[in-house]
Order: sequence, then C-alpha cells, then structure tokens
Amino acid sequence: MASFSLRIFLNPDLIDTTERTETLVEKISVEKIGLEKKLAEKAKATYLDVCPRVMPVEDVIALVKSEAKKNRRTEKAESLGLRHSTETRSETTEISMILTRIGWRLFWVDQSGFNEFGLDFHSGPMVARRKSVGKFQPLAKAIGGKPNENCVIDATCGFGIDTLDLLQLGYKVLPIEKSLITGELFEEAVDRSQIRNENLHPLVVDDAIALLGLTATPSDAGRFFWSETYSQFSGGRPAVIYFDFLFDDLSKKGAPDKKMKLLHLLGDKIHTLESVLQNKSLLKSQPVSRLVFKIPAAEASSLRKYGRIFESKMVSFLITHP
Ligand SMILES: C[S@@+](CC[C@H](N)C(=O)[O-])C[C@H]1O[C@@H](n2cnc3c(N)ncnc32)[C@H](O)[C@@H]1O
Repeated sequence: MASFSLRIFLNPDLIDTTERTETLVEKISVEKIGLEKKLAEKAKATYLDVCPRVMPVEDVIALVKSEAKKNRRTEKAESLGLRHSTETRSETTEISMILTRIGWRLFWVDQSGFNEFGLDFHSGPMVARRKSVGKFQPLAKAIGGKPNENCVIDATCGFGIDTLDLLQLGYKVLPIEKSLITGELFEEAVDRSQIRNENLHPLVVDDAIALLGLTATPSDAGRFFWSETYSQFSGGRPAVIYFDFLFDDLSKKGAPDKKMKLLHLLGDKIHTLESVLQNKSLLKSQPVSRLVFKIPAAEASSLRKYGRIFESKMVSFLITHP
C-alpha cells in the first residue's frame, strides 16, 4: 500500500510564521501517537521525520532534486544489471514541505520526476475561477435550493476548490477533511487570501463518515448536527451533505494532475461508494435534506438505483436522500 513520509523544514527567512510550522508539527506528533496506538489498523501514513529542520527554500529544492537524481541513477544501474536491488523498492513517497511567503510548498519525487505544489487562492487561476462561478454550473444544480437558505457540509474538502465554489455561490459551507496535511494546506491558503467570512466555517479535521453518523457501528456521531456550534452556523436549516471521494483507482477520474496526485498521496481513498450509500438511511432522523456525491462517469449506471444521476459534460453527480 502506498504511503508517505514527511520532512518539514523551518524557513529561516520567515521567522514570523514559525509558529504555524510548529503547530503543525505538534498536531502531527499527536496524530502519530494515535496512529501507533491503532497499529492494528492499516495506517496509510507514516510520518517519519516531523521535526522541523531549518533550511532555506532553495536548499530544500536542491536537496529533493539531488535525491531524485540519485534515485534515477540507481534505477538505471539496476535496469542495466550493474546493480541488484537487495530489497523490494519501498512504496513510501517522501514529501518535503516548507512554509514560504506564498504559502506551503511541497516537493516530492515520483516516476515522472520532481514535483512541486502549492495552493494559491489569492492570485492566478483560482481568482479567475471565483469570478466565473455561476448558478448554472453543474455543482450548483446538484446542490440545489436557494444558496442563501442552504448550508452545505463539504464532507471531503480536500484542497477546497469545491468549498470555495460553494461559498462563492452564496451557500454557507462547513468543510470537513480527514487528512491533517491536506487540511492545513487549505486553511493556510484561506487565511492568506483573506476569503474567510461568516459563511465559511473553520475546517473540521475529522472522519466525516464517523462524525456525521454514516457508520453502522453505533456511536454518538449524529450528535454533531445538534451541537450548538453547528446549529448556530446552519441557522437550524437542514443541510446538504456533499461528498467528492478519492477512489483507490487513480485513473477513475481521468489523467491525474499534480494536485490530484498529491491528494492521493495524502488522503483517504475508497474502493466504491456502495458502503456509504448503504448506510444513508442512518441519517433519516438528522436534519439532512439531501446527499450529493460527485461520481466517476463510468459508475453512473451502477449507482442509479440509489438516486437521481445528474450528468454534465465534465462531471456527474448522484443526488439522493437519507
Ligand atoms: C477528491 S478529494 C476532494 C477534492 C475537493 N472536492 C476539492 O475541490 O479540492 C477527496 C478528499 O476527501 C478526503 N476524505 C476521504 N475520506 C474522508 C472522510 N471519511 N472524512 C473526511 N475526509 C475524507 C480525502 O482525504 C481527500 O482529501
């Protein structure tokens, strides 16, 4: 199973934001202890090296690139039979991250070579995207209702592109994300771009399936809907829950770009939507008006039995009720 390890670097040029890095390292350490306790579960992430090391950005990039070069040389030697690998190649991808003036930058190496990624809501394509978001786009049609009367729980926030589209459309949005690192990239980018307003709830880092009560195991999960914080935010109106899961087969959503590859490395994946859909009636007594799933086009026919399928040129959605 593919996993990742992390190296976090403190940026000597950004001493003022050291706190953000340190907080993240602390949260990871707590999560790591949790992971060790749950050894029986298949922990997808192994955080090997979370102690921040001080290094300028250019040096981090040079380090990752030189490691990539070394890997390529080893692979070439192996393919020419000049060197035999003594152990099976590890599936762990090492990700290096550092906070810069334009947010977190992440660097890693895969079969395609050196990769760099950062999330920017402040300039570039995301600004153009925000301006062009309109009520006729497929996501708006799938969520439905009047935006200013609806609260959407974006249960699989990821890098928050859909969250921000929904916010732009006028919905109140409560994002949930299971991956601590993915969530931190989103929160930092939101803080930096100053797009937070009263319609955007702070990100909840948790397992949405358990939190919202979609698990067959009895728990007090459904209480989330009746908590004071949530009812104040939603104004007591029923919520739409929106899911955009990652599938373990990366090819299901077309050729992956760098953003998708990183979401896959960091995030939780599922094999099929069936297990979630089979439990949807557990939400019957909760204030939930509809469940919306972004689905791979190829899955549309097998999921039709669960609700209405809304297909557009680019994306398909399953719209269903508890
Ligand atoms: C395809 S991505 C979502 C992309 C997102 N819609 C966007 O616009 O950037 C799916 C995300 O859901 C997260 N995820 C998967 N299962 C989850 C769960 N049970 N609870 C919360 N988040 C989950 C993954 O970690 C991943 O970051």
